[in-house]
Amino acid sequence: MAGNKISKIIFLTLGCALVASINCSLYGETNKADEHPKDNLTQIIHYGSLAPSSHNAQMWQVKIITENKIKILVDRKHILPQVDPENRETLISLGAFIENMVLAAPCFGLQPEVSIITKNPADTEIAELTFCPKRDHSSTDILRDIKNRHTIRIPYMCQALSAQDAQWFKTFGADLRYFALSTQEGKYIQQAIIQATKQQVADDNKQKELAGLFRFSKKEAEKERDGLTPDGIGLSGITKWFVSTFFTHDSVMSKSFRNQSVTTTKRQAENCSGFVVLTSDDDSVASLVASGRSLERFLITATGKKLAVHPMSAPLEESPWSEEISQKVGLDKPVQMILRVGYVKDYGHPVSMRREVLVLTAQ
Ligand SMILES: Cc1cc2nc3c(=O)[nH]c(=O)nc-3n(C[C@H](O)[C@H](O)[C@H](O)COP(=O)(O)O)c2cc1C
Repeated sequence: MAGNKISKIIFLTLGCALVASINCSLYGETNKADEHPKDNLTQIIHYGSLAPSSHNAQMWQVKIITENKIKILVDRKHILPQVDPENRETLISLGAFIENMVLAAPCFGLQPEVSIITKNPADTEIAELTFCPKRDHSSTDILRDIKNRHTIRIPYMCQALSAQDAQWFKTFGADLRYFALSTQEGKYIQQAIIQATKQQVADDNKQKELAGLFRFSKKEAEKERDGLTPDGIGLSGITKWFVSTFFTHDSVMSKSFRNQSVTTTKRQAENCSGFVVLTSDDDSVASLVASGRSLERFLITATGKKLAVHPMSAPLEESPWSEEISQKVGLDKPVQMILRVGYVKDYGHPVSMRREVLVLTAQ
């Protein structure tokens, strides 16, 4: 209750004028964003919220400190203690949220600076962002890629990565490594994904946590605006209709649903060009947030190049794969993300929903 006195919870509402100005800049016209710093901040936070997060839990929150300074907080109501007991994926997701804001801010005439304010992964307050006015507004092209980025879960074409894309991967530095499916390391990752998923779906507590984030009906999806919808997991046509009409949270706990998850995962892991692995120096808060920021930069650039990407985290959530993966693929740093990559005929478009970001105001 004391918290209520310090912080007043307000929901971020994007008015029609605001939406119109975002659309305007996205379609290459003059950026007509409101000049008032708070409105720019509102838009920047909205772009932040388009970031990926594990299970689309969107476990982020913002606290306004001054008109040009915000804190990024973990929203404890939405963390995933079963699959992510150490908050590793939460911090990576917050990193992706931060990176979107860092990339969007210059489009609104603001230069961002990020500082990490804790060393404890269990803390709520993680980072501080300060925005300084810039003389000019950067090109808004990046906003289009932030909006178009999405996780692609359909099977990909079994074709080798192009030489240009392989070359482009190298520009991301030593913390990004690519393993083609045909290599020994690629085959290890493929099997790790399948076996770790098999183990994970057999765990009732983890499956229950996942069930709580399934939004089968349109009504529930529109109410919660988070989690995994039939569209979001790549279903279409009659299967999508069947699942959204007849499935409930209890269906996720059934044997047939668990078996189907393994079959789908196997098909995904067998149909791609290979896997990108992101590493970090260590598991500190700063390194995990930095990994999330690199992840988002990679995903946004991949979107511009129409390269399909799908994070597949089961081996990083299950033992023994989480402990052995670095050594098995010949890396001497902790692996933070495994990404299935490849080409698809139809790149699709974003379908997963977003809540309005919970914004607290310090008083
Ligand atoms: C840290 C992290 C881990 C993720 N792990 C998985 C995963 O194991 N399987 C999966 O299908 N998607 C995974 N995702 C993708 C999210 O489910 C996805 O970002 C979310 O549903 C929102 O959808 P969007 O990326 O299309 O916006 C992960 C994302 C993040 C940031």
